[in-house]
Amino acid sequence: MTITAVTPLAYDPTGAFVEGAGMGPKRLAALAPRLEQSRADVLADFELWRTGGQVPADRQPLEPGFVGLPEQMLEEYRQSRATSQLNQILSTARKLGSLVDRVVVLGSGGSYMAARALFESCCHPHHNELSRAERGGRPRMYFAGNNVDNDATQGLLDLLGDRPTRDVEERWGIVVISKSGETLETAVAFRQFLSVLRRACVDDMELVADLVVPITGASGRLFEMARALGCEELLPVADGVSARFAVMSAAGLLPGSLMGIDIVKLLEGAAAMNVHFREMPAGENVVLKYAGVCHLWDAVGNANVRVHSLWGNALSGVGYWYDQLVAESLGKQEQGVTPLSVINTRDLHSRGQQHQQGRRDKLITNVIVDAPRRDKLPVGSSDMDEDQLNSLADRSLGDLMNAAIAGMKQAYADERRPTADLHLPKLNEVSLGQFFQMMMLATVVEARLLGVNPYGQPGVETYKKHMNELLRES
Ligand code: PA5
Repeated sequence: MTITAVTPLAYDPTGAFVEGAGMGPKRLAALAPRLEQSRADVLADFELWRTGGQVPADRQPLEPGFVGLPEQMLEEYRQSRATSQLNQILSTARKLGSLVDRVVVLGSGGSYMAARALFESCCHPHHNELSRAERGGRPRMYFAGNNVDNDATQGLLDLLGDRPTRDVEERWGIVVISKSGETLETAVAFRQFLSVLRRACVDDMELVADLVVPITGASGRLFEMARALGCEELLPVADGVSARFAVMSAAGLLPGSLMGIDIVKLLEGAAAMNVHFREMPAGENVVLKYAGVCHLWDAVGNANVRVHSLWGNALSGVGYWYDQLVAESLGKQEQGVTPLSVINTRDLHSRGQQHQQGRRDKLITNVIVDAPRRDKLPVGSSDMDEDQLNSLADRSLGDLMNAAIAGMKQAYADERRPTADLHLPKLNEVSLGQFFQMMMLATVVEARLLGVNPYGQPGVETYKKHMNELLRES
């Protein structure tokens, strides 16, 4: 398959090699055979799953479908566009987007975090405040169904309202995402939002069915609800893909397309990362190098707090997504680092002190966007120079950010604190596609190195079970 040329992400671990801590390039090079073996295992798992082979009991659940998902989606779209799932996603988004001005995405954990990450990173930072024309006809987006917060739920319902209307600018719809279809928070929210939506549609169930798009597995309570509602558009969370690995399935792509994101480019970025992952030797492979440095600092350097230091507000949702990916995939059998995302420079003023001089238990990865989307905004000169900023008048916010990154790296290096850098050329779909796929692949490689199963979430399932039992007993 031809993949459009992409500007690759760059990973620079130089600052994570700390003299005297036994963490140098030689140690990473020595890990190369294990990293390459882990890659082979990840790919073999994918082949086993793809070909429907027998999965040994100790490897279950095995849900590596995300590995080949970008190529599968793109290939199907290129070969049989009209019937492809990608086409269905695009046309569902077009249809819902033309009917409503607000969309509530209901989902919990992995089922909504990718959508939120895309919203925060790719849309205008005040998307929901813009007029429909300024949003290019795209609906405003809201996220709920990830909590049982009384006031938050009612606040959003106040905004959406139950007033019957024929005006698109007043109408709203629901995208409800749950892989299992059984998560209580999401199911309760769906019931509550659906009931208000039905009032707004004066119980015109054909209209309701048009305004609700469920994304779920091939069975379960949400699947049954969708059938009972007569929802024409029922999209799958891809088979063999755990929710937190489902970015490149309808769970990420449908909300992304609704927001106006170019989901083909997102998939192309992810597919390019797959090619790189499969083909490059450990020493030149960003996925394996990133996984290797993270693993070594955890296993040998005792840095069991993993900080993603995100340079820009728009990366906030991406940080939450990664925290969850690592926490749920690696936090098993008393293992796995504690992930922590910080937004800089904001959090340098709240956490920076601790990261620079607190316990030596952190590996920091700077996630840096090399070029802002918009023209650089200068500090500007003023006839009121009491703040003494005229000397910086020609400096832009980009210059300030670069100085902050360099200053922070220098300060941390002086204290022998490990910092690696991951560069995204731009904050666009191609870079984000690469980033998501890189992090998912690195996480399963790391799981292999640790000897834990990255798929499934047995602890969370127990919580869900107890919560349900307690509610039904009392
Ligand atoms: O990533 C995961 O697998 C979890 O965080 C789930 O998404 C979360 O528990 C919600 O489950 P479901 O998607 O089945 O509603």
